[in-house]
Amino acid sequence: MDSNGASRRGFLATLTLVLAGVPILGAIVASLRSGLAPARVEKPTSIPLCHLEELPKGDAILGRAVTFEMRRGPLVENVSRMVFVTRGESDGDYLAMLGECTHLRCPIQQRTVSVGGRDAPLRCPCHGGVFSRTGEVLAGPPRAPLRRLELEMPTDGADIVHVRGL
Ligand code: FES
Repeated sequence: MDSNGASRRGFLATLTLVLAGVPILGAIVASLRSGLAPARVEKPTSIPLCHLEELPKGDAILGRAVTFEMRRGPLVENVSRMVFVTRGESDGDYLAMLGECTHLRCPIQQRTVSVGGRDAPLRCPCHGGVFSRTGEVLAGPPRAPLRRLELEMPTDGADIVHVRGL
């Protein structure tokens, strides 16, 4: 075997590796870009949540899963998230919150735990984040309250409450 043949084979092997690597590198970059791209709701912007009579009374919390399309970079996927609704300060005043932890986005569970002798109804199973009935942080690593959403009350005798802002 002469040295020209060996170096030609070496060149071809290198060229093959480079050419094979380009699409793989492209796929890695695309997936990183889509992972880093901010997620946003594709549609719809207003999602049916519950019937009027299901809205919580007293200190109760309504937890409801909603499904919608989320765009992250070039990807559109169906995702499901919990939405929690509680009563606000006055009659007919309700707060809606996204059931996604503000630490690392784990799904929040409706489960009562005791924090400093006080009952807290919303808990993150990942690192022990605990939130109040109105979504304030009571314990654990989260630094921000649960994200507030907007409720759309039905009009004209309709019965379905919608949620916006996911
Ligand atoms: S993701 Fe909820 S406490 Fe870390």
